[in-house]
Amino acid sequence: MQSTELSIENIRKDFPILKRKVRDNKPLVYLDNASTTQKPKQVIDALTNYYSNYNANIHRSVYSIAEEATEAYEKVRDKVAKFLNISKREEIIFVRGTTEGINLVAYAWGRKYIKEGDIIVTTEYEHHSNIVPWQLLVKEKGAKLEYIEINDNGELILDQLDKYLATGKVKLVVFSLMSNVLGTISDAEKIISKCHEAGVKTLVDAAQAVPHMSVDVAKLGCDFFAFSAHKMLGPTGIGVLWVRKSVLETMDPFHGGGDMIREVHKYETTWNDLPYKFEAGTPNIADVIGFGSAIDYLSQLGMETVRKHEMELTQYALDKMSQIKGIVIYGPKDVSKRGGVISFNFHDVHPHDVATIIDREGIAIRSGHHCAQVLMEKLDVAATNRASFYIYNTKQDVDKLIQSLEKVSELFKL
Ligand code: ALA
Repeated sequence: MQSTELSIENIRKDFPILKRKVRDNKPLVYLDNASTTQKPKQVIDALTNYYSNYNANIHRSVYSIAEEATEAYEKVRDKVAKFLNISKREEIIFVRGTTEGINLVAYAWGRKYIKEGDIIVTTEYEHHSNIVPWQLLVKEKGAKLEYIEINDNGELILDQLDKYLATGKVKLVVFSLMSNVLGTISDAEKIISKCHEAGVKTLVDAAQAVPHMSVDVAKLGCDFFAFSAHKMLGPTGIGVLWVRKSVLETMDPFHGGGDMIREVHKYETTWNDLPYKFEAGTPNIADVIGFGSAIDYLSQLGMETVRKHEMELTQYALDKMSQIKGIVIYGPKDVSKRGGVISFNFHDVHPHDVATIIDREGIAIRSGHHCAQVLMEKLDVAATNRASFYIYNTKQDVDKLIQSLEKVSELFKL
C-alpha cells in the first residue's frame, strides 16, 4: 500500500549524487529540478543492465537479446499508458523530449492543416519550445500567433481565449500545464473544453506537470500532450508525445528512415503502423528502458504523495522567503495553484550573482531567463533566480537556501 508521506531519508539513499560534496566540501543541495532531476540508482542500474546484458537493436532481429531488448522497450510504452491513463498504446510516440514532441506536431500536423489567416494561440508563460516552433510555422503559412496574457498573480486571463475563439480563425491552442518559471498550474480542463466546443485542437506542454502531479490524459481531453523523462528521474534525451489516434491517423510522417516504413520502392514508400510511423531510425533504447524504471519509482511513491510533499515544501519556502527583506517572488501565492517552482529576485542583485554566491554554499539553483523570454518581458525583468523542488528535497534544504541569501545580503551590504 502506498503511504501518503514520503520517507525522504530512504528516498535520498537511492540517489548517489546526493552524497556529493561540492565547493570546499559542502553537501550538494540540489534545487534545480525544473531543469532536470537527479537519477535514482534504480534508473542508473536499468541503463547499466541493458548495456551489460542485452544491448541489441529492436524491432529488427529474431535472436534472443534483440527480443529481450524489444520487449523491454515496448513494456515502457505500456507503463507510460498506465501512468497517464492512456488506453491506446499506439498513441504514444517516443521522442527526444518535449521540444521534439512539439516540433513533431508543428511539422507533421501544423504544416498540413495550418493555412493562411489561421490563428494559433499560445500563452505568455510558455517555454521557448512552445513558442518558437509556432513562430516558424505561422511565418511559413501566413498565419498568426496570439498570446493569452497573465494577470498580476501569474495566472492566465482566460477571457482572452474567448475573444480569440470568437474570431472563428483559431485552429490550435497550446499551453503548458505548469509554468517552468511561475509554477502556475493552468486550468487545463476549462481551456480544453472551451476549445473543443469551438472545434479547436489543443496541445499541452506537460514537461513541468507530469513529474510533479497525477495527470490523467483521458480526462484532460486534449489532442496533443508532450513531456520529458529527465524531469521525472529518467534519463535525458527521451520523452513522449501522445496524440489522439483520430488525429495521429491524419498526420504525415515527421522523420523518414528505417522502422517507420512498411515497404520502400524506388519512388514510393508506405508507412508502418502507429506509433512506429513516427519513430524513425534506431530509437533511444537504453534511455526508454531507464525511463521505465523512473516511472516504476514514481508509481511506487504515488503521484498524489509526491504532490503533497511538494505543496508542503513550497508552502514552507514561500512563508519563509516572503519574510526576507528585498525579495520579490513571482507566481500564485496559493500553493494549490502552483507547483514547487519558486522564481524570485533579490534586491537589485543580478540573479547570476545571487546564484554564484549561493553556489559557494553548495546550493544549486537556476538563474537566467529560463527559456521564457516572453514572460521575462512581461515581468519586466531580464532574469530571475529559480529554486525548484523534488521528492528528495527537505525543509533543511529550504533553510540552507535562506541562510545563503543572508550571505548575499552581507556581501552586497543590503
Ligand atoms: N526547461 C528547463 C527549465 O525550465 C530546462 O529549466
